Amino acid sequence: MHKFEKLEVWQLAVEYADLCYTIAEKLPKSEEYNLASQLRRAAISIALNIAEGSTSQTDPEQARFLAMAIRSLIETVAYQHLIHRRNYLADTTLLREAYQASEKLVAKLQAMRQKVLEGPTLQEVGAEYIVDPRTPFDVTANDQQPMTNNQIVRRSSLVVGQAKDPPSSFVVGRSSKYFVHPTAVIDEPCGIGADTKTWHFCHVMRGVRIGERCILGQNVFIANDVVIGNNVKIQNNVSLYTGVELEDDVFCGPSCVFTNVSNPRSQIVRHHLYERTLVRRGATIGANATIVCGVTIGRYAFIGAGAVVTHDVPDYALMLGVPARQVGWTSRHGHRLDDPDGDGVMICPESGWRYKEVEPGVLRCLDWPEDEPLPETKER
Ligand SMILES: CC(C)(COP(=O)(O)OP(=O)(O)OC[C@H]1O[C@@H](n2cnc3c(N)ncnc32)[C@H](O)[C@@H]1OP(=O)(O)O)[C@@H](O)C(=O)NCCC(=O)NCCS
Repeated sequence: MHKFEKLEVWQLAVEYADLCYTIAEKLPKSEEYNLASQLRRAAISIALNIAEGSTSQTDPEQARFLAMAIRSLIETVAYQHLIHRRNYLADTTLLREAYQASEKLVAKLQAMRQKVLEGPTLQEVGAEYIVDPRTPFDVTANDQQPMTNNQIVRRSSLVVGQAKDPPSSFVVGRSSKYFVHPTAVIDEPCGIGADTKTWHFCHVMRGVRIGERCILGQNVFIANDVVIGNNVKIQNNVSLYTGVELEDDVFCGPSCVFTNVSNPRSQIVRHHLYERTLVRRGATIGANATIVCGVTIGRYAFIGAGAVVTHDVPDYALMLGVPARQVGWTSRHGHRLDDPDGDGVMICPESGWRYKEVEPGVLRCLDWPEDEPLPETKER
């Protein structure tokens, strides 16, 4: 027996789904593909979200699934109202019964969600999928048997993988664990570091090397041989083409665009002319910005939303506009730095760290080396 099957809320949800199915069966034929199928889908979705939530890696993740279950439940109630309004059921006993059941179920779901959010009852654990040899649909199975730890399934929506044949020289252990959503496609061989998460509809091509603790948001495409460092966050709809390299701690905002050929023509093959674009440690690329190929974006540079970068960008530079122009400096913590004081020093309002232009166009942090990771706490 799996963990969710033990939950009272699961039992209630299944019984509620039965009721909804009974109502759906009584609807006129004309509603078979409308209200009836929608009601069945939403009712099933309640139970599925409870089951899937019980396999979550973290409490907030489970809470999200429970919220989705509640949403589906509200949807079923709305269908019941519509059914009533259209007088589809002469006898409303079933509707009343379903309504009462929905109240009970939603109270349970809300209480459970609250409890999960108050945590910490469930902590992140090593993801494992252990198949229970018994099937719950086997009438001979003894459902009363207590569940063993080995029968607890911690995940279903995430695929746990092992890095396959990482290209040489890249530090990705074969034993690295990472997460890939089932809708994502990972071509092999490629190296993916521990704790990296690849979300819905991503495509990672052969020879790609991705470091540890990265996040690839929905619909991210990574072309052959692209190299990505550790702790890189790539937001939805970003494509990284061959020739692009992202160092550690880079942030790519949603729908920002990289390019790899300066003068593409459909009729002319320029595969051998891919230009290199390097985004150095800690840089941020704002949403919808475009990086024309062949440039280097300096450490902790900040490219504003929608900017078009056509030249190399110095460390810490704040770049805005089309074409992007430097309008100031940004601190390592992402704050625009005010005008310098008499000694040429600018102070980050968050960290208190001092920055100074040590020569024209070259900014340095006086309190923390550019290549050092941030200290554990940001307080000085
Ligand atoms: C650049 C940025 C950090 C703001 O910097 P800021 O110095 O605090 O900017 P302010 O909001 O004070 O605006 C200052 C001026 O810059 C302009 N400006 C701000 N962002 C701009 C941008 N991306 N492009 C062009 N001009 C911009 C403002 O219009 C304003 O001009 P004005 O004084 O003529 O009205 C921010 O606008 C930005 O682009 N952030 C990136 C957000 C993002 O992409 N996030 C991705 C994850 S969701």
